[in-house]
Amino acid sequence: MASSMAATASLSPPVLSAERPTARGGLFFPPSPASSRSLRLQSARRSGISPATRKPRSLPRAAKVVVAVKADPLKVMIAGAPASGKGTQCELIKSKYGLVHISAGDLLRAEIAAGSENGKRAKEFMEKGQLVPDEIVVNMVKERLLQPDAQEKGWLLDGYPRSYSQAMALETLGIRPDIFILLDVPDELLVERVVGRRLDPVTGRIYHLKYSPPENEEIASRLTQRFDDTEEKVKLRLQTHYQNVESLLSIYEDVIVEVKGDALVDDVFAEIDKQLTSSLDKKTEMVASA
Ligand code: AP5
Repeated sequence: MASSMAATASLSPPVLSAERPTARGGLFFPPSPASSRSLRLQSARRSGISPATRKPRSLPRAAKVVVAVKADPLKVMIAGAPASGKGTQCELIKSKYGLVHISAGDLLRAEIAAGSENGKRAKEFMEKGQLVPDEIVVNMVKERLLQPDAQEKGWLLDGYPRSYSQAMALETLGIRPDIFILLDVPDELLVERVVGRRLDPVTGRIYHLKYSPPENEEIASRLTQRFDDTEEKVKLRLQTHYQNVESLLSIYEDVIVEVKGDALVDDVFAEIDKQLTSSLDKKTEMVASA
């Protein structure tokens, strides 16, 4: 969404410079030497003078050229222990940056709700706090990532990859994030967050009975709890998380940003927002200087 920037330049004269990039469909494309040369020649032929002797056409001093520069959409991965706040932050990121939110856990719960074979198998592993096997998860996420909306708007991958093999499945397709956000929350807070979590089946919003209570009675009465949100299961999920997270860090070393997740929701988001803006600025600068 926020992936465009207006670059304004005062030019005298502002015409047909061979070096100046041209904007096509919002993107910068440097003109090829051949096309710039032929443009100058055609123009010279029409005026009857040679390009070398022709004076630049004078334009008002205040003339400005505004060029839209559009970078590739952002590609973001967010990871962290169970209940570290991934889903909560994804709601905020999505609404500010317009990225397509792809949550591996949500995709699996949709399979369970649909009663599919994959859903039935996945539930056995989720009940035990273990990772669902790659043959179910990998293709499911890959297919969703490659859909046109995610390619056009950018994506926000939540809870995937969670293991070395899952990350490598993306690497072999050349799919890499611009930024990998790792939420860091002390273990002792996670159990309380899990057992108090509630979900609104109508809006999909995430609540917490203490930290983020429902706004009114009507919402409170329809809230549901996840089948794996018990103290016993979160401990198993936490174990699984620690067994796997290290293996990801080496793959995404160059784009990892660790964010403290034990502050207020808005403060955590402020830090993430700062990091995403900086990542987006870097992408835009790269396009502008290409
Ligand atoms: P998944 O659904 O992804 O669960 P998870 O990783 O355990 O993470 P959670 O959804 O529990 O927490 P969250 O970090 O999103 O926190 P939230 O924002 O909701 O996966 C479930 C299962 O599916 C896995 O165990 C596994 O079996 C399987 N699976 C998923 N992905 C897989 C993969 N790639 N491969 C194989 N298997 C896979 O916040 C939690 C609570 O805290 C909420 O109540 C919220 O209101 C509150 N809260 C959030 N932030 C704050 C804050 N700053 N202060 C106070 N409270 C807060």
